[in-house]
Amino acid sequence: MGAGRAALTAELRALRQRIAKADYHYYVLDDPIMPDAEYDRLFRRLQQIEAEHPQWISADSPSQRVAGAPAAGFEPVRHHQPMRSLSNCFSEEELRDFDRRVREALGRESITYVAEPKLDGLALSLIYRRSMLSRAATRGDGETGEDVTANVRTVRSIPLRLRGEPASHPQLIEIRGEVYMPRAGFAHINRELEAAGEKPFANPRNAAAGSLRQLDPANTRRRPLAFYAYQTGAVEGGELPPTHWELLARLRDWGLPVSALARRVEGVDGCLAYYHEMLERRPRLDFDIDGVVYKLDDLAARGELGEVSRAPRWAIAHKFPAEEAVTRLLSVDWQVGRTGALTPVARLMPVFVGGANVSNATLHNADEIERKGIHVGDAVVVRRAGDVIPEVVRALPGRRPTGARRPKVPTHCPVCGAAVERPPGEAIVRCTAGLSCPAQLHASLVHFVSRKAMDIDGLGEKLLAQVIGRGLVENAADLYRLEAEQLAGLERMGEKSAANLVAAIDASKNTTLARFLYALGIRSVGETTARALAEHFGSLEALTEAAGRDLDSERDTHVKPRDRYPQLQRVADVGPTVAAEIARFFAERRNRKVIEQLLTAGVRWPAPPRGESGKLAGKTFVITGTLPNLTREQAIDLVQQHGGKVSSSVSSKTDYLLAGDTPGGKLEKAQKLGVAVIDWSGLRKLLQSDADE
Ligand code: IVH
Repeated sequence: MGAGRAALTAELRALRQRIAKADYHYYVLDDPIMPDAEYDRLFRRLQQIEAEHPQWISADSPSQRVAGAPAAGFEPVRHHQPMRSLSNCFSEEELRDFDRRVREALGRESITYVAEPKLDGLALSLIYRRSMLSRAATRGDGETGEDVTANVRTVRSIPLRLRGEPASHPQLIEIRGEVYMPRAGFAHINRELEAAGEKPFANPRNAAAGSLRQLDPANTRRRPLAFYAYQTGAVEGGELPPTHWELLARLRDWGLPVSALARRVEGVDGCLAYYHEMLERRPRLDFDIDGVVYKLDDLAARGELGEVSRAPRWAIAHKFPAEEAVTRLLSVDWQVGRTGALTPVARLMPVFVGGANVSNATLHNADEIERKGIHVGDAVVVRRAGDVIPEVVRALPGRRPTGARRPKVPTHCPVCGAAVERPPGEAIVRCTAGLSCPAQLHASLVHFVSRKAMDIDGLGEKLLAQVIGRGLVENAADLYRLEAEQLAGLERMGEKSAANLVAAIDASKNTTLARFLYALGIRSVGETTARALAEHFGSLEALTEAAGRDLDSERDTHVKPRDRYPQLQRVADVGPTVAAEIARFFAERRNRKVIEQLLTAGVRWPAPPRGESGKLAGKTFVITGTLPNLTREQAIDLVQQHGGKVSSSVSSKTDYLLAGDTPGGKLEKAQKLGVAVIDWSGLRKLLQSDADE
């Protein structure tokens, strides 16, 4: 019996360790080490043993992340040390003033800072006593916060116990950081709330706050909250490293998530380079940031600086321009896209937002206008995030003027006058004229020549409008018939530039199958799907044949809709809807004719690598940073032409990280996971060495 007990407690310990490790890899490193089914099996076994032996349940058991009854409210708790806020600056000049003050106070020439993203969430204080999470509190007024321990225990990136030897942890350590909701999770929660007829959250920050303050921890648990640690507070019985940079590394060792975007920088110039890099990356991050924070790296020197008006003198937040502003909606125009979709465009009273003047913004589609109850004349919130197209987020009905009216959905194409259709259940209204509508033709040619498609240099929107206007071009294939003499007669076109343009059009004939498929502008087929189709089928013939065979399944009423298009659906990310678009595109005689004309004109691409014989066959690459002599698209083409795969994020399945200048977070992740990192010359070597074999 005793032996059975010992075996059982050993199993219990092993289960807890394996689950905690799986959680750490999943939620902190973002690199799962175990299939979900395996995880569930371990978890159920853990719950089973604990149910039979409740006396063995410990506070750090993964099963205890859901414990605790709903609270009546949150208990106030006094912070061991007050939680200060940060001073802000909005310009380079203000930043230079800050740096000057620091240098003068410390008598140093140049200052080393740690730069971090300023996360837009809620500050949180976590107390670990003897390695165990013992209390979590909100910032509150800085002196007194609210005890949210039960809820915080459900946030799976927050360790219940610090990793590593307990002897290496201070007796008590307060770790501070930000709880936030990733954008993807925010979108998901809002969809759920809307489906349940509840009010959605205005932004991820509100969603994080609302989720953290749920009275029932079971509700918090269902919300996709995440956490980044960026600071320590009280420490008892233990030493911390002398610099902030090393402190962050220590927190990482203890199993806390620390942003991979944090960086040690030198002086104001280092700070500014970081600021601009983050501003550029901001729209593509999976979480909201409203600026960056610079902190003095030397922890001992912080004490010499002290604080002003409840904010330390050793750190400053450098805020980004606001992404949202309020202005007035003057009118709504409808723009015709390349697939005929009519997009409502808001004409606005010009407003400065996201660092630029905005007078047009998208309203997405007719349903969105309806859903948001937007009226012409309304005060509206406009959002411009990085280079993402500005959008109207919502109206402020409280400020609606009398006479405001709902925008009318057109019954006819505003450009060619053809009737519009709105298939039942669809949000999109479309012009039915196809490429005989000049607006559709123009938009589809703009797409055809764009950088990620056929990449024709020097053929801009205005020029395309001219060649269409003069009847020189009726479809994409006609571009390859243009002659220098015809072009030389156009506005702002000399003989020289006309000759250059013809040469550029000619050069674009050498392409790749992926680019060609993308250029065709098949509905729902973006760059990634085009690449997947090219990779899967290898040739245009194979793809069109499969599309043709699949189309028969559409007519077969015995086949369930989701089982139709079986061959196309074998391609990564192609589901029944996208497959249907592809099959119908190739079935259309008009489209087949244009493809034929393009091929006759000389558009071509290299034959696919034979089977497994591509030089990079079976290898997965991730590309980061700026390469010296290739654009990103060219690097992708090159890897694929040699049979390699390109994926967008680093995981343990990545074989190589191809890193250029200013590589960013992917490099750190690759290093952490032990993925081989190569530069341009490394890639060349790979291609050569294989060729020698
Ligand atoms: S350090 C004394 N670092 O910004 C300095 N704060 O206005 C304590 N925040 O309440 C804060 N990202 O909620 C720090 N990387 C970061 C941050 C950050 C976001 C928030 C935090 C704090 C507020 C300060």
